[in-house]
Amino acid sequence: MDNRPVRENFLSFSRPTIGDAEINEVVDSLQSGWITTGPKVARFEEQFSAWAEGANAVAVNSATSGLNLVLCCLDLKPGDEIITSSITWPSTVNNIEICGATPVFADVQRDTLQIDADAVAEKITERTRAVIPVHFAGAPSDLDALKTLCSRHNIHLIEDAAHAVGTEYKEKKIGVGSEAAIFSFHPIKNITTGEGGMILTNNDQWADRMRRLRFHGISRDAWKRYAKGGIPQYEVTEPGFKYNMLDLQAAIGIHQFARLDEFNARRKALALNYLEMLQEIPEIMPLSLVEYPHVHAWHLFIVRLDTDAVTVSRDEFIAAMQQENIGIGLHFPAVHLQQYYREKYGYRPGILPESEWNSDRLFSIPLYPLITEDDQKDVINALKKLISKFRK
Ligand SMILES: Cc1ncc(COP(=O)(O)O)c(C=O)c1O
Repeated sequence: MDNRPVRENFLSFSRPTIGDAEINEVVDSLQSGWITTGPKVARFEEQFSAWAEGANAVAVNSATSGLNLVLCCLDLKPGDEIITSSITWPSTVNNIEICGATPVFADVQRDTLQIDADAVAEKITERTRAVIPVHFAGAPSDLDALKTLCSRHNIHLIEDAAHAVGTEYKEKKIGVGSEAAIFSFHPIKNITTGEGGMILTNNDQWADRMRRLRFHGISRDAWKRYAKGGIPQYEVTEPGFKYNMLDLQAAIGIHQFARLDEFNARRKALALNYLEMLQEIPEIMPLSLVEYPHVHAWHLFIVRLDTDAVTVSRDEFIAAMQQENIGIGLHFPAVHLQQYYREKYGYRPGILPESEWNSDRLFSIPLYPLITEDDQKDVINALKKLISKFRK
């Protein structure tokens, strides 16, 4: 048997598309003498706000920080509960713990990995303060169903939109009209600032408070204190954090954002190719599209391995894919079964059947504008090769 890998060189799981405009803008910041929060962050926020029909836009140094700031605005008390999904990046859930509330998990739908509104309804108690759906992989959660539930129980709907810049739900962009939606600009995301995040909110008081909290809880950031005409004095109105975005980051973001539609169109074309090619490999199951009208941002391309059909586990399968020189991601193992949550809440497998079923089978294949159709064929050939090798 031929032992050579499908590819000679390694295909990265992800790689950002950075052009001359981003590079020149960063150089411009470096040469200007102003590299921390300043006019470029303001420009990036204005761009985002205009795109989101005038929503308040608050730039931060990560989506994790953004989630933290939004949860601070809820003034949570011990015993308060927040319902979210277990198939998410840990920071969605960690932030609930860090803010002193109790995370409560609702199961996801097996083939979309979106939080299930009926499962959320079953978890609502008089202590529930908010629901945090994750717009998973770039497809929207069912916001109408969740909004109906949240307004009936007078609780907040906070959207983890880390994957969803450019996603639309029923012809409306995620973030437009939202109480709060938090986007991520981590390097694997659809647009990047190195690290970074943006909160969109329709709540003016929350926006003011988050602008203070992102910078120590004081009313004047460095630009307002040190630029010409600035006032050096400051006042702490409540203890805050150091979550401000740098101009160096916004310099990248301004030009990435201008290319969002182009990037997302390329992601969509690549995703449709994968969907078609995967029809030949029934043991590798992609997610289903959500059934309501939407625009998918195709942040991730997630598949599930039919572990009943093969002799290896998912983890062994992804190690074998890497041996074939294909980079693989894991989005995401269930958070409720991570050590901290198992030990603190005594969670054991069996409580969230659909999340756990996926947690054992899912992995992500490369999807980003820089890959070619030939790269995609290599991914598919590696999957086919390993399925025939490991088929029962
Ligand atoms: C669903 C989800 N929420 C939140 C985050 C946190 O984003 P950041 O890395 O910008 O803090 C991520 C990051 O991957 C994510 O996937």
